[in-house]
Amino acid sequence: MEGRGFYNTHSRPQQAAARHGIELLVQAAGQLDPGPPPLVIADYGSAEGRNSLAPISAAIRAVRQAHRTPITVVHLDRPNNDFASLFELLRTDPGSYLEPADEVFALASGGSFYEQMLPPNHASLGWCSIALHWLSRVPVSPGHAWPTMRTGLDRAPFAAQAALDWVTFLKHRAVELRPGGALVVVVPASDRDGCWSLAGLARHVMATLEEMTTGGTLDPGELARMLVPNYDRTLDELEAPFADPELGLRLEEARLDYVADPIWEAYRASGDVGTLAEGYAGFVRAAFGPTLVAAMNAERPADARREFLGALDAGLRRRILAEPAALCEPTVATLLIVKAAARP
Ligand SMILES: C[S@@+](CC[C@H](N)C(=O)[O-])C[C@H]1O[C@@H](n2cnc3c(N)ncnc32)[C@H](O)[C@@H]1O
Repeated sequence: MEGRGFYNTHSRPQQAAARHGIELLVQAAGQLDPGPPPLVIADYGSAEGRNSLAPISAAIRAVRQAHRTPITVVHLDRPNNDFASLFELLRTDPGSYLEPADEVFALASGGSFYEQMLPPNHASLGWCSIALHWLSRVPVSPGHAWPTMRTGLDRAPFAAQAALDWVTFLKHRAVELRPGGALVVVVPASDRDGCWSLAGLARHVMATLEEMTTGGTLDPGELARMLVPNYDRTLDELEAPFADPELGLRLEEARLDYVADPIWEAYRASGDVGTLAEGYAGFVRAAFGPTLVAAMNAERPADARREFLGALDAGLRRRILAEPAALCEPTVATLLIVKAAARP
């Protein structure tokens, strides 16, 4: 994700999607056996934290209604995540969970959630929102910026990688969760018709990248390497690992929700197409900019990377101004996953 707070200010669609999991998180938090203090809440794929504030605050309130135990919140993300912006936010934002609550502590750790990130039996509650569509690796040589736009056999290696990653993620959480602990996952998904929510926006990105290649600002080799390793699983794909009793986790609830597009809703209220274009272009840069830039030739100067992001932004704005449309209506799957309580 783009750092220096850029993701925090350009991730309203992710925030809208995350809201769909808060009710389940509160339900799970209210039923926890607190165990020995502190009670640990793990936030997997936190990014810069703004979208974690509402769910984590709600979970803390739910725990506190039942127990007066100290609480540690651990934010987990990749090592290059902008954790500085996260801690700045926690200390300054009026919506921070640190402010009103006493005996709540914030920690962070950098690593991959496709590995073990916490000690065994450590976390009572887990939260993972809009992060698990990022695959651990690109399984084939690139050729199209989004695997979800591939069809048939071409899509199969991504589906296989997504299945492997999902099981790997769950196995590690089965170790890290305390017996009786719960994990809520909100993840972009494909609906039963295989419809994918970002297809319109992805087409604009591809058209802009191809235009930059034709115009000579991007090499064909760079374009070919620009692959966003995201895969939106179907509900069936998400439910599959729970058929294995050895997994150690139970799926309590799973549902698909269609998320209203906050950028489009704001445009419908204001009629301001410039803000609409800025909103979508900012969303693309915040979520995918660093991945696209990383595919540029290593010998290019830093200026070329800034210019690339500027040209992408300008191309997207031009396309959106010419053809205003709702481009970001994610379908999300929301899952409540529980680790069996210890036998008395
Ligand atoms: C779209 S952001 C979502 C952030 C936040 N949870 C939200 O709802 O807005 C996805 C986050 O997942 C993180 N992420 C992706 N793959 C990861 C991995 N293998 N291990 C840890 N974090 C990962 C990214 O670095 C990014 O910060």
